[in-house]
Amino acid sequence: MPKPSVLVTRRIPSSVLARLEDACDVDLYDRGDLPHDELLSRIPGKQALVSVVTDTIDRAVLEAGRDLKVIATIAVGSNNIDVAAARERGIIVTNTPDVLTESTADLTWALILGITRRIVEGDRLVRRGQWKGFTLDFMLGSDLRGKQLGIVGFGRIGKAVAARAPAFGMRVAYTGRSVQPSAAGEAMPIDRLLATSDIVSLHCPLTPETKHLINQTTLARMKRGAYLVSAARGPIVDEAALVWALANRIIAGAALDVYEREPEIHQGLLSLENVVLSPHLGSSAIETRTTMIHLAVQNVVAVLSGQPPLTPIG
Ligand code: GLV
Repeated sequence: MPKPSVLVTRRIPSSVLARLEDACDVDLYDRGDLPHDELLSRIPGKQALVSVVTDTIDRAVLEAGRDLKVIATIAVGSNNIDVAAARERGIIVTNTPDVLTESTADLTWALILGITRRIVEGDRLVRRGQWKGFTLDFMLGSDLRGKQLGIVGFGRIGKAVAARAPAFGMRVAYTGRSVQPSAAGEAMPIDRLLATSDIVSLHCPLTPETKHLINQTTLARMKRGAYLVSAARGPIVDEAALVWALANRIIAGAALDVYEREPEIHQGLLSLENVVLSPHLGSSAIETRTTMIHLAVQNVVAVLSGQPPLTPIG
């Protein structure tokens, strides 16, 4: 029996690749971002696809990939995959939830601390040789203690971010699609959360409903001294509106890990000091990434050997 074929769209650790090669013929694209037309030309004849957030798995890919049985994305978010169209064709889609939750929550707190204590702005100043020495009123940021952290999207990552809040003396407010009462904080409608929170942190998935959830109107509802943080998906924030809000001090600052048109960054964001910009690092810790890739491979191997996947979507 010939082995099933799998397309892997990025370089993966050799130990995990070896596991996949035991079970499959592997077509590995290891030259960086896989262009969409290259994806279309390599997918025919493949039974499995291991992909990442920047691969667009649309109807054209599913049409070309007539033999596909499983798509395993190395991510928790699946907005880059037409999951409904895959399902229509009987293709199983899997993701990597849970294993990246803590890592992404840590990164969120790095953003919160980075923007409120002006660490990145300070680093830029030091490197420009502009630090003149300690003074009592230099580069004052904001304390977290006693303030409210507003979490939009109270799923796994939102909850893990909330769990760290007591260590910083913050109280938690949260909102989401179907929120249950939680001892971690107070559930409230989004308008109230925006109007009362000192930090608003986004953790909802990108869906047609959440696209541009943060726009001129919602930004204008936020407190003047508040900060916006996002390690979710770029298009949840209307970046042009955010630039307007930051430039006009409608809010105090923003810390972003994700962008509307990655890897492009809105020019207005690049020129503002009250912004921290990290390059989509949510889960990018070596242990977490290795575990995610391993889980994606386990899903492929399970489906191709007739077993249920470990972490199917839906
Ligand atoms: C990364 O952005 C993910 O969804 O895991």
